[in-house]
Amino acid sequence: MDVHRLIAVSNREPYEHHREHGQLVCKRTDGGLTSALDPVLRRNGGTWIAWGSGPADREAVGADMSLEVPPESPTYRLRRVWLSQDEVQDGYRGYANQVLWPLCHITLDRITYLKAYWPAYRSVNLCFADAVLKELQRTPGPVWIHDFHLALLPALVKAAQPADPVFVFWHIPWPGPEVWHILPERREILRGLLAADRLIFQTHGHAEAFLQCAHDFLGAVVPATRDQVLYDGHDTRVIAHPISVDFQMFSEHARSEAVDRAKMDLRQRFGLRPGVRVGLGVDRLDYTKGLLKRLWALDTFFSQYSEYRGKFTFLQIAIPTRSELDAYQQYRDLIRETVEEINQRHVAQYAPATIESASWNPIELHEGRIGFDELVALYRMADLALVSSVYDGMNLVAKEYVSAQVGETGVLLISQMAGAAEELSGAIVINPYETERVAEAIKNALEMPRDERRRRMLRMRSYLSAHDVHAWVDRCLDETLTGTHR
Ligand code: F6P
Repeated sequence: MDVHRLIAVSNREPYEHHREHGQLVCKRTDGGLTSALDPVLRRNGGTWIAWGSGPADREAVGADMSLEVPPESPTYRLRRVWLSQDEVQDGYRGYANQVLWPLCHITLDRITYLKAYWPAYRSVNLCFADAVLKELQRTPGPVWIHDFHLALLPALVKAAQPADPVFVFWHIPWPGPEVWHILPERREILRGLLAADRLIFQTHGHAEAFLQCAHDFLGAVVPATRDQVLYDGHDTRVIAHPISVDFQMFSEHARSEAVDRAKMDLRQRFGLRPGVRVGLGVDRLDYTKGLLKRLWALDTFFSQYSEYRGKFTFLQIAIPTRSELDAYQQYRDLIRETVEEINQRHVAQYAPATIESASWNPIELHEGRIGFDELVALYRMADLALVSSVYDGMNLVAKEYVSAQVGETGVLLISQMAGAAEELSGAIVINPYETERVAEAIKNALEMPRDERRRRMLRMRSYLSAHDVHAWVDRCLDETLTGTHR
């Protein structure tokens, strides 16, 4: 497989253009998908087709709707797809984010289903198909489609170009038939995906659930090897390969002077006195990340182990996401209110004796994006990182934390519902629903002997150095792959 001619396709683009004070400014976007794939295309070149979501995106492209990125040292092409307001509103915000997202994360009460959503979702997929087919005419190469926004795209591409290899990576969980059963368009989604040559999931559990759905809803043939689906005369390999991060890039950056400087700045900015231990959460402000449960666990921790008042602060970086949707606005407000209430209560009970200790806050909530130096500095300085997703395809923050932990002193606490928990054997696995146990796990992490922390972190670092994002790409696109769950 010629990875240098790869055509990657996703809804979210890696770089957006904005106009600021009359200048055209290029900014990185958020989310695990773009942070994982960008280093891959940076290294190998190729083309990335994605929705031009930035307000000044049209000003930055040439006649072929593309530009070279990353801006500081271009190595690959970004081709932008333009979506209409209805396609964005009903297709992306509606069907993708208010139907498929909560469905796949089994937060079924969050589903809002309107009739207009499905035609718009189809229309989004048709726009992408048009761009992919034009790209294939220009420079043929393997097509690699990403995520739940584009489930119909494999069939649309294959109908026009049956000989071109089409792969799909499904970044989020794939639940079982009992969940998909509530989706009226489940068969269309399955047919769309089954036109691909290879369908890759984060975990064996998700791959297995997909096979079950293909069998139950389409009557597709699933051989006993449980690694392929035969449907409508086509054979689709179905495998599990967990996505990863650029381990080396994080590790090297974590040792840089810029990160050392950022560490000092951050301690100052958050008013962290010397000796105050630090916990860290970095998440998009998404209800699947279990932020409320995390706050309840922190509340219990500070009540139960009150000796940690004034001695431990939890930094929560909350990156705004999908903020046009009510569910996300309400969740954000709830998080803000809860943090405020917890902080007030514990600060009052702490009864500070000195002016310095009065500056202590149990939880520091930072809403907004942070720069790369700061992110890596936070990963380096955090005594523990807490991932409490109620369901998560992978959770790359967990892998980034381990990659940046070059001092090998930190402890990772990860939800059993995040894909990464299956791989990161040195982590403390938590159940986000068990509030008191999570509080206890935080205490145990803070009191864990240095040797054990080191042993655990080394084990995970050694695993990730061999299973980084580049190894993941090689394995996903490996031509010799027979399709077993490897
Ligand atoms: O990883 C799941 C995912 O939906 C990606 O597809 C997406 O880029 C990311 O989360 C962020 O969400 P959005 O693109 O809706 O901002």
